Amino acid sequence: MAHPLFRLAARAFNWPLTVLVRPYPRVNAVMWDLQYALGLWRYLDQGRDRAPLELAQRVTPRPRILDLGCGTTVNLALPPGGYRHYHGVDISRAAIRRARALRRPDTSFEAADLLTYRTDERYDVVLFREVLYYFSVDDAVGLLHRAAGLLRAGGRVLVWVYDGTTDTGRELLSRARSCGLPVHDELVGGAAGAGSVLVLGAADPARSSGRS
Ligand SMILES: C[S@@+](CC[C@H](N)C(=O)[O-])C[C@H]1O[C@@H](n2cnc3c(N)ncnc32)[C@H](O)[C@@H]1O
Repeated sequence: MAHPLFRLAARAFNWPLTVLVRPYPRVNAVMWDLQYALGLWRYLDQGRDRAPLELAQRVTPRPRILDLGCGTTVNLALPPGGYRHYHGVDISRAAIRRARALRRPDTSFEAADLLTYRTDERYDVVLFREVLYYFSVDDAVGLLHRAAGLLRAGGRVLVWVYDGTTDTGRELLSRARSCGLPVHDELVGGAAGAGSVLVLGAADPARSSGRS
């Protein structure tokens, strides 16, 4: 379990910077690289969380997974054969280098700003783990809708918050809940491991017509 002081330091260092630099992707990337170099997020990398893959496997036994804001992925359990393909995207090249160095089979990685990231691929599951905090409300809602547009039939967007009891965690979940996408499930503990997860589906075409 991470020492609470590390969590506090990482968040305290990060929050004001996030707001200032997020309009500038290159500066934003450098700031995240610096935080990884300083080891501020190392506390996330203790243990391997099995819950994300297990929830993804509820969608389909060998899911194609897109992890947006994936970080180093050190903390993510990805046993060989448990997924068809995993693609991780993060703005931090340092995090992506670390993720690639794990050399897990059937994985690929890309350094990109989620705000401008586009792909023609389609996925069974799109993951946002501890990521949407770093965007404005409008951008976070836009990202959720874009992610839902990348889903294969029956696919799901999983919004993961590791501490849903904090004000920021609660607020993020509430924004995601009311973003206009169908909420299929909401899990706290149990199958969500140590966190809270909101399970969203693709937009209902009848309701979302007119949305760009
Ligand atoms: C708190 S870390 C979570 C990492 C990982 N998802 C996890 O749960 O361990 C937040 C991640 O979001 C990434 N991030 C922040 N803003 C981003 C952006 N605009 N585009 C892509 N990734 C971003 C950071 O580089 C960082 O790796």
